[in-house]
Amino acid sequence: MKAVILAGGSGTRLHPLTLVTNKHLLPVFNKPVIYYAIEKLVDAGITKIMIVTSPHHIDSFVRLLGSGQHFVPKSTHAKQIQIVYGIQNEPNGIAYGLFIAEDYVGKDNCVLFLGDNIFLDDITPAIKSFKKGSTVFLKKVPDPKHFGIAEVNNKGSILSLEEKPLKPKSNLAVTGLYVYDNTVFEKIRKIPPSARGEYEITSVNSLYLEEGTLRAHMLKKEWFDIGNIDALHKASLFMKKRLSHEK
Ligand code: TTP
Repeated sequence: MKAVILAGGSGTRLHPLTLVTNKHLLPVFNKPVIYYAIEKLVDAGITKIMIVTSPHHIDSFVRLLGSGQHFVPKSTHAKQIQIVYGIQNEPNGIAYGLFIAEDYVGKDNCVLFLGDNIFLDDITPAIKSFKKGSTVFLKKVPDPKHFGIAEVNNKGSILSLEEKPLKPKSNLAVTGLYVYDNTVFEKIRKIPPSARGEYEITSVNSLYLEEGTLRAHMLKKEWFDIGNIDALHKASLFMKKRLSHEK
């Protein structure tokens, strides 16, 4: 299993903080946003990670992270992790960002991690038990009208997906973490750009849904999507409190 962390995008909702830097390099309490994604993946036993970002910021990521030498796997038997980089010339969609990693992923399965998401759950069991199709990670939210929402049966299969529904069928939001089998790349090739001109990951997930191979993994702990200033601030306060309890 390889992993792709997306760290491109425009970050317009975080202006002016993101006028000269990238959202994933901003601090969440004591470390840059991107650290949370890398640490979560390394803790789940993943050692090969591609970070996809824009040409404007790739040098900052390389300076900050290098080959990943500072991220040490928990298991003493695990290999040293290796980070490589991909360039997305324009922010033309999450699915397109993943497509850039096609050759890197090769014949493997892959985790797609949106770099502005922070998860507290241990994702190891979901990754280790993955076989085929796709697994999306869902989190109960109080305001489902603002999210992509999944309807799930009692066996964990997803029955429907809706983007910001007026009448939500559930309160389970689709978060920025997905596991895909290797058919994901042929699926990305099939999807057209959306009305806003982006290759949407929801279109890819809908193809898995049509196939009947889209499964849900429920998250129980906190989840942050630091795309706006309130969420960035909330995540920082949460991490500060968490660290002071650990002391
Ligand atoms: P978004 O938050 O949906 O988009 P954005 O980062 O452009 O921000 P804004 O809406 O404020 O302008 O992106 C979700 C994640 O996906 C985030 O980690 C950035 C990443 N992303 C890419 O890497 N490439 C892309 O083309 C897009 C659209 C997003």
